[in-house]
Amino acid sequence: MTEPAEPLIEWKDVTKTYPGRDSQALSTTTLRIDNDAHIAITGPSGSGKTTALNLLGLVDRPSTGRAWFAGTDLSRASNRALTRLRRRIAFVFQEFYLLEARTVLENVTLPLIYHGVPRAEHTDAAMAALELVGLADLAASRANQLSGGQRQRVTLARAVVTRPRLLLCDEPTGSLDAANADAVLDIIDTVHGQGAAVVMVTHDPRAASRAPTRWGVSEGRITLGVAA
Ligand SMILES: Nc1ncnc2c1ncn2[C@@H]1O[C@H](COP(=O)(O)OP(=O)(O)OP(=O)(O)O)[C@@H](O)[C@H]1O
Ligand SMILES: [Mg+2]
Repeated sequence: MTEPAEPLIEWKDVTKTYPGRDSQALSTTTLRIDNDAHIAITGPSGSGKTTALNLLGLVDRPSTGRAWFAGTDLSRASNRALTRLRRRIAFVFQEFYLLEARTVLENVTLPLIYHGVPRAEHTDAAMAALELVGLADLAASRANQLSGGQRQRVTLARAVVTRPRLLLCDEPTGSLDAANADAVLDIIDTVHGQGAAVVMVTHDPRAASRAPTRWGVSEGRITLGVAA
C-alpha cells in the first residue's frame, strides 16, 4: 500500500474567537485540504467564511487547535518559517486593490519584488501571468484605465505570478457581470489545472457549482460536501 499523500492543509479542532467577542467566529473538528483541492465555500453573511480563509491563508492564527501547512506545524513554526509559507499563498478579493496610477505590468511585478525574485526575471514572469489572463496587450496601460473585468484579471495575474501552491478567493466574481465572472472562473480553473489548490468563497451558485468540492458554513461550523 502506498502512503496517502501529505495534505496541503490539515486542521484539528481549530477555532477562532475574536477579542471582545463572546461567541466563536469559527469552530471546526477536522479539516483537510489536498494539494489538488478545488473547493467552493458558501454560507450566509457573518457565518465565518472570511475568518476561515484568513486562517487557511496564515493571515490570522487560530485561538485554539492545531493546524499544519505543507507538513509544518504552525503552532511551532518560527516567524521566519511562517513568512516563507505565506509566500506560497495568494489571495484574490472582490475589491481589486490595484495601484491605480501604475501600469498593469508594474502591478503584476509587485509580488516578485516582495518575494525577492531576481529583477532580470520580472518582466518574463509578469508577462507570462498576463498571457494566462489574456491581458498581455494591456501591460503598458494604467490600472485606472481598465474595466472591472479586466481589473479582476490583473489581480489574478498578480496572484499567480509567484506560482502559489494555494489560491484563496473571497467573492472573486462579486463585482462582475456574468460574462466577466465566467472569464475569471475560467482563469481560476486554469490556475488549478496548473497545480494550485483553490479555495473560493462565493455567494454565486453558478460559481460554486463549478467547484468539484463544496463546503457550507453556518454559524461558524463548516459542513463538508454541501450541494450547490
Ligand atoms: N476582526 C474582527 N473582529 C471581531 N469580530 C470579527 C472580526 N472579523 C469578523 N468578525 C466576526 O466574526 C463573524 C464571522 O465573520 P466573517 O467575516 O468570517 O463572516 P463572512 O462569512 O465572511 O461574512 P460575509 O459574507 O458578510 O463576508 C461575524 O460575527 C463577524 O462579526
Ligand atoms: Mg466575508
